[in-house]
Parts: sequence; C-alpha cells; structure tokens
Amino acid sequence: MKTEVAIIGGGPSGLLLSQLLNRAGVSTVILERASRDRVLSRIRAGVLEAGTVDMLHAAGVGARVAAEGITHHGCYLTDDDLMVHINFAELTGKTVTVYGQTEVTADLYAAQDAMGARIVHGVEDVILNDVDSAAPYVEYTVDGDRRRLDCSYIAGCDGFHGVSRNTIPENRRRMFERVYPFGWLGLLSRTPPAHPELIYANSANGFALASMRNATLSRYYVQVPLSDRVEDWSDARFWDKLRSCLPADVSAGLTTGPSIEKSIAPLRSFVSEPLRWGRLFLVGDAAHIVPPTGAKGLNLAVSDVFYLHEALADAVRHGRTAGIDAYSERALTRIWKAMRFSWQMTTMLHQFEGEDGFAAQMRKATLRHLSQSETARRELAENYIGLPF
Ligand code: APR
Ligand code: PHB
Repeated sequence: MKTEVAIIGGGPSGLLLSQLLNRAGVSTVILERASRDRVLSRIRAGVLEAGTVDMLHAAGVGARVAAEGITHHGCYLTDDDLMVHINFAELTGKTVTVYGQTEVTADLYAAQDAMGARIVHGVEDVILNDVDSAAPYVEYTVDGDRRRLDCSYIAGCDGFHGVSRNTIPENRRRMFERVYPFGWLGLLSRTPPAHPELIYANSANGFALASMRNATLSRYYVQVPLSDRVEDWSDARFWDKLRSCLPADVSAGLTTGPSIEKSIAPLRSFVSEPLRWGRLFLVGDAAHIVPPTGAKGLNLAVSDVFYLHEALADAVRHGRTAGIDAYSERALTRIWKAMRFSWQMTTMLHQFEGEDGFAAQMRKATLRHLSQSETARRELAENYIGLPF
C-alpha cells in the first residue's frame, strides 16, 4: 500500500491531521493499534480552547461542538478561605468550550468515514523504516499478515507509549520530565454539575476539580497518592473526599450518584525534542505530556496539528519545505509556554508530600494575589483560554 502521509495513531492528533490533509488533497493512511470501540471508550479532558474549536470548524467537524458544546466565561480557584473567579470573557474577551474529548474523537471518526479515509485498526508490531531517507516506509501486522506502507512522510501521533518518539535515535533526543508524586482519581456520574463553572479547589484536604460534560453529566477529580488503586475507592469514599475539598456551599449542593467511570491518572510534565527526524514528525502526546491541571493536553495536540498540516500539504503538493523545516521549533515555542502554565497550575493547587509550611504559604499567597490583582487574573486567563497559535 502507498500513501503520501502515513499517520501512526488514530487518537485526536492523528484523526485531525488526517482530516485536514485529506481536505487539502493529501492522501493519508492511519494505523491504529486499538479497536475503534476502545479508542472511543477513553474518558479524557473536556475543555476546548477557542483555537481548538476554530480548527474543528476548519476541519469540517464543528457542527456538533457548536450545537452541544457549553460556553464557559470563567472558572474558579479556591482554597479554604477564598473563592476567586477568573472571568475569561472580561479579562481576555475570549471564552472556552466544555465538550468531551471523546466527542471530538467520535466527530473526527465520523468525518473521516464520510471522506472514505483509510484507517487500519488492530495493527501490531509497527516499525518505522528509513525515516531519514526520501522513501520512508512502515511495516505492521494486522490479522496475522505482515504488511508494508510506503509513504513520503510519517506523522507520529501514537501518544506517550507509541513507537514514533523512540524511532528517533536516543542520542539525538533531548528529554525533559517532571513526575508529580500524586495522581488524579476521576469519576464520571450522570448527575447535574456541582457548579455552573469549573472549580479548581486547593484545600487542606487536598486538590479537587469539579467539572462536567453537560447539564446531566458531571466529571470530578480528587488528588490521590500514587500508591492508591481505583479499587481502594468506593463511590461513597470518593464523594466524601470531594466534599471535603470543595467550598462548603458548593459541597452542600452536590448531587451524588453511581460512578459510570472511575480511574486514576498519573501526572507528568514531559517534552521530547526535536519533533522532527528526517521525514518523521511527532505530534501531540507522542512528543509531550502535560498534567491535566491546565486543561492543555488536547489543545496542545491541536496546535501541533495546526502547524504541521499546512507544512505537510505545502511539501507534498508543491515541494515547498520551509514549513516542515520550521515545524519543530515553531511548535515547541508554544508547547513550552503551555508546559509552564500547566506546571504552575499544578504546583499552585496541590500539596506535595513532605512539603514544609513555606510551600503552603506560597500557595496561599498566590491565591490571595489573584483575588486582589486583575493583572494576575488576566495572566492566568490568557494562558487558560489558550495562547495564540
Ligand atoms: N501503533 C499504532 N497506534 C498506536 C501505537 C502503535 N505502536 N501506540 C499507540 N497507538 C495509538 C493509541 O492506541 C492511541 O489511540 O495512538 C493513539 C494516541 O492517541 P492519544 O494517546 O490520545 O494521543 P493524541 O492523539 O496525541 O491526543 C492527545 O489525548 O491522551 C489524551 O491527554 C491527551 O488530551 C490529550 C490527547
Ligand atoms: C475535565 O472535564 O475532564 C477536565 C477539565 C479541566 C481540567 C482537567 C480535566 O483542567
């Protein structure tokens, strides 16, 4: 099989890149390890920056997010004494849209199916070959058959545990990492959200986040030690923990119900440079991981796709390589700014085991400064709604 751009991974990065390239007349094949049902069963974050929504419209998949997405004009940061509103609309003139990543992925699959896109599920033993040549090719196994896909370019959209990043020689990669000593236990419930806007709570009892998917589907998180397992957490224990972290009046109005999904995710900040090796380009989680505190994971993958799709179309259609030559540096500039914001939100809102009183005072002073300084709130808001592409 031949194609112009081989895409490893059928998550949001791979699907959006394929959709935009196909609309630009560039052929692609997506090779995805998991079944479609498995991909669509993943519960991920749910806050879309304005730039992400614009990209979905540009890809022809903006209809449902326009109809069902919920516009949020702000969010709250709280501790045991303060509840600070960050009014995105007032401070930046922009808003964010609450719409689950699972829905974005489903919309992209539907659009790719409508275009007759070539997506191969259930691939195994993917190997990227001759990526530093003009004729790279991918080998993979599906249904027991070993196959070869010849291509002009390869987009590594296969996430943190994929093969693409490790195809770049280790001695040519620079990796940066911060592993946080706690995780987020997330719960999804068919209950009305505890509050109309998101609440990031830094309490003496730990961190919690009150979020949502829509008016009848709520998404909550509480900070847990890395040693905890999801089996250790009954629904009742989760709701008690959540109540102990949220402001009292919010907890008082909390509607609880049975969990329809419950899982623990570790928190990590990670970047691998460069994003290019010959004809291979890394996109999204394959290149970087952010802690979910800044709601940047999906949005950062989208800005990588923004930079890469135009560059690849230029190279394939017109032989112009300035875009692909600039991709890595251009994408990394925005990646590092989002990395900083996500790290800052995480250190500002979580207790770290063994920390001294000074750290707690720093968190307290930060929230007080936000409550008293419009400039500080504006700086947080412009990062949260998404820096320009
Ligand atoms: N071969 C083929 N596919 C693979 C391989 C492989 N060797 N390894 C992983 N994959 C697939 C995974 O099954 C997954 O569907 O690549 C896809 C990568 O998707 P994501 O991990 O969702 O990464 P990305 O598309 O970059 O989206 C980033 O997803 O995980 C969230 O928090 C993250 O919101 C962010 C977004
Ligand atoms: C979510 O709704 O899953 C969510 C929202 C905001 C975050 C992280 C997760 O920062």
